[in-house]
Parts: sequence; structure tokens; C-alpha cells
Amino acid sequence: AKNVGILAMEIYFPPTCIQQEVLEAHDGASKGKYTIGLGQDCMAFCSEVEDVISMSMTAVTSLLEKYNVDPKLIGRLEVGSETVLDKSKSIKTFLMPIFEKCGNTDIEGVDSSNACYGGTAALFNCVNWVESSSWDGRYGLVVCTDSAVYAEGPARPTGGAAAIAMLIGPNAPIAFESKLRSSHMAHVYDFYKPDLASEYPVVDGKLSQTCYLMALDACYKGFCQKFEKQEGMQFSILDADYFVFHSPYNKLVQKSFSRLLFNDFTREASSIDEAAKEKLSPFSSLSNEESYQSRDLEKASQQVAKPFFETKVQPSTLIPKQVGNMYTASLYAAFASLIHNKSSTLAGQRVILFSYGSGLSATMFSLRFTEGEKPFNLSNIASIMNVSEKLKSRHEFPPEKFVELMQLMEHRYGGKDFVTTKDCSLLAPGTYYLTEVDSKYRRFYAKK
Ligand code: ACO
Repeated sequence: AKNVGILAMEIYFPPTCIQQEVLEAHDGASKGKYTIGLGQDCMAFCSEVEDVISMSMTAVTSLLEKYNVDPKLIGRLEVGSETVLDKSKSIKTFLMPIFEKCGNTDIEGVDSSNACYGGTAALFNCVNWVESSSWDGRYGLVVCTDSAVYAEGPARPTGGAAAIAMLIGPNAPIAFESKLRSSHMAHVYDFYKPDLASEYPVVDGKLSQTCYLMALDACYKGFCQKFEKQEGMQFSILDADYFVFHSPYNKLVQKSFSRLLFNDFTREASSIDEAAKEKLSPFSSLSNEESYQSRDLEKASQQVAKPFFETKVQPSTLIPKQVGNMYTASLYAAFASLIHNKSSTLAGQRVILFSYGSGLSATMFSLRFTEGEKPFNLSNIASIMNVSEKLKSRHEFPPEKFVELMQLMEHRYGGKDFVTTKDCSLLAPGTYYLTEVDSKYRRFYAKK
């Protein structure tokens, strides 16, 4: 199989959300902390009738219907998620009724999990399968689904929720440059979920920021080496049209891209002109450790990065700023934003993605666009995802109602024997929702 990659995409996020400006005031944070400090505009969350299973059902059903894909043609289904509703039964199995109905139970794959990285693991599994000798000619389907919720405190504004479905096959308009892929994996306690009775993580925010940037450096170094070996020339950020980052919040994306320019400076790469060199040379003697802590370096590299940021990163920031951290779906929601904003000009261009999951696992990899053929072409993907409309038709919650809901969800987490309000008035037609968890913890869903 040639040009294996993403043929089609669909994104779903809950219509329920809260403005960061409103949350900021309610939390007593200083004005601008969430909006400018974290760079976030709005945050989506699951109401009591939605969860990672219902969101993934909605995304998968919608993808199959809108691209007119026969469910029998799916040969592999992989789910990435870090939201635990069951320690044994995979989310993938909850999606099987969609395929069983059509007589298709011959579908490989289960769930992958490691913080925000599970979606990337699922994606690689599907791509590798299509490229392998065990491929049976059918499509792969990847689902990234998460509800990111934090306890009250500084991490709460960095939540979010979404599900993304991606159809994988050959001759894709978004194809993997398979040799250009570099990973960094290590054992750290930056963000983890050891308390099985709680949906909330234990998080060392500062450590998680540094780990993210260290993993970015390691992956970028490896990526550049692989590129140079393959292409026989040095890589710089000029060799990619776009960079898309896992986006816990927008400020970290800004810092990450600046960090790539600092890397280019230390590698003496062609993206660094004389003016940039002058700005960055005061920092050339910093140790690696020091370079993560230096405010002045951060400022200088942000200045150098700014014009590049506007063209190479900005187009991928829309959904993460509006929806928040979607964990496994976050990187792919950023990628969906790029397609939404630039679908008509992407053909022929290269995009580099950086996936990070705490704990930690990270990979940088490269994709190439071609226009593709209907229904699997870029402009059709953009119009099916219909991002503007979905963002516009949301319902903003006041903070008191949001906090009340978080408390209810805390109480319900891991619980049994309850029915929901079944109130689906805010959901779009076609959306799945949770109706009941019975005395044996079995979950029941309905479709609006
Ligand atoms: N106006 C403008 N900017 C402000 C204001 C204000 N009034 N107040 C603060 N800021 C800035 C700060 O200077 C800081 O920016 P900087 O990093 O450039 O210095 C930013 O806003 C955040 O303020 P902090 O005081 O650093 O925030 P705090 O420590 O309270 O929380 C954090 C931020 C650590 C990100 C927290 O939300 C968190 O733990 N989130 C979860 C962990 C996370 O998302 N980690 C990322 C990688 S791992 C993953 O994906 C889960």
C-alpha cells in the first residue's frame, strides 16, 4: 500500500462550555491569567448525559454516514483514551454495535492508553497495519476520545472534552512520511492517575511543562538527524509548512515553537538569520537545564519565532483555544483546525506533528498533503467537520452551574444504579447520550 494515511476525519465536542474570562473571574484569578497567561478562550465539558463513550459513538457514526463508508469495510478499530470508565472492557467494544448491526465483527484492535499519547499510538497501529503483510485491504479507523477534568485549583481551566475519528487507508490526502518519525520515552511522575476512585489526575504542573519541552527537544533532535540522513541536507523549521502541537493550553504551544527556533540556533540551521543570531547568542552558553528556566531566553526566542508562528502555527490553534485540552484528541483537534483554516492551499505541503503524553511518551512525525479524491479530499474533510458551525452553536454555562455539574460528575464517577436526566435538548441531532448505569454498572445510551 502506498501513501498510507488519513482519508477522512470527523470531530465532535460537547455543546456545553464555559468562557475562560468568566471562569477566571469566578475563580478569583487575576484578570488575564487564563485568557492571556494560558492563552485559552473557552472550555468544553461533558454534561451529565455525555461521556467518552457517547462522544466516540457520535464521531464514528457521523464519519461513516457523512463519507458514506460501509461499516463492513472497517477491518481495524483502535481507540486512544486516558479516561477510565472500565479497567478491563475497552471503549472499542462499546463501539462494536455500530458494526455488529451490519454483520461485521471481524475487526482487530483495542484501546491504547498513556495520558495524551494514546491517540497517536492508535493511529500508528492502524497505519502500520495497512502497511503490513497482515492487511486485508479494508480501512482502519482511529478514535481519540477524552474528557479532561481537573480538581478545583490552578489546573481546572486546562480541561476540555472531544472525540475525533480518523479513517486510515492507502492513497490518502494526508499521507505519512513514515521514515520521518522520532520518539522520546521516559519514566517521570509529571501527571498520572493513581487514585482509581477519582477521575482527576495527580499533577505537578511545573514539572509537566518542563517534561513537555524536554521531550520536544529530544524528538526534534532525533527528527532532524533522521531527515538529514534521508534527504542529505540539514533540516530547519523552514522545511515544514506547518507545526502542530499537542495543546494542553495555547501558551505552551507558543513556548514550544519558540523552543524549536532555539534548537535551530544551536544547530546553526538556515532559519536563523543574522538578526536572530544576535538576539540568541547571549544564551549560547546556558546549560540545557538552565535553558528551561531562563525567562530572558524565552522572551528572546519568542521574538525570533513570532513571524514564523503566525504562518506556521497559528492556523492550528483554533479548536484547542476554544475547546481546551482534549487529551488524546488535542493534537488531532489542532490538526483539524489547520485543515479547517487552510484546506484549499495545503496540497503539496508538509506538516510536522508533536504528540506528548505525560509519564512520559512523545513522538514527532511528518505528514504530506495532496488534494485527494472525493469524498476523501481536503476541502470535503473541512466541510464535513463543519468546525465554525459547531463552535457557534454552543451553549455557555455560568460558573456556578459549571461547578455544580463538576460536583455531580465527581459523585457519579465509578458509580452505578442511576439514571440521567436524559435531557438532550442542547445536543445536535444524531448525538449519542447516556441514559442509565444499572445495578451491574452496565451503561446504556440513546441517539438523539
Ligand atoms: N495576565 C497575564 N498573564 C498572567 C496573569 C495575568 N493576570 N497571571 C498569570 N499569568 C501568566 C503567568 O505568567 C504564566 O505564564 P508563563 O508560563 O509564561 O510565566 C501563566 O499565566 C500561567 O500562570 P502560572 O502562575 O504559571 O499558572 P499556575 O501555576 O497557577 O497553573 C499550570 C498553570 C501549571 C499549567 C496548571 O494549569 C496545570 O497544572 N495544568 C495541568 C497540567 C498541564 O496541562 N501540563 C501541560 C503538559 S502535560 C498535559 O498535557 C496534561
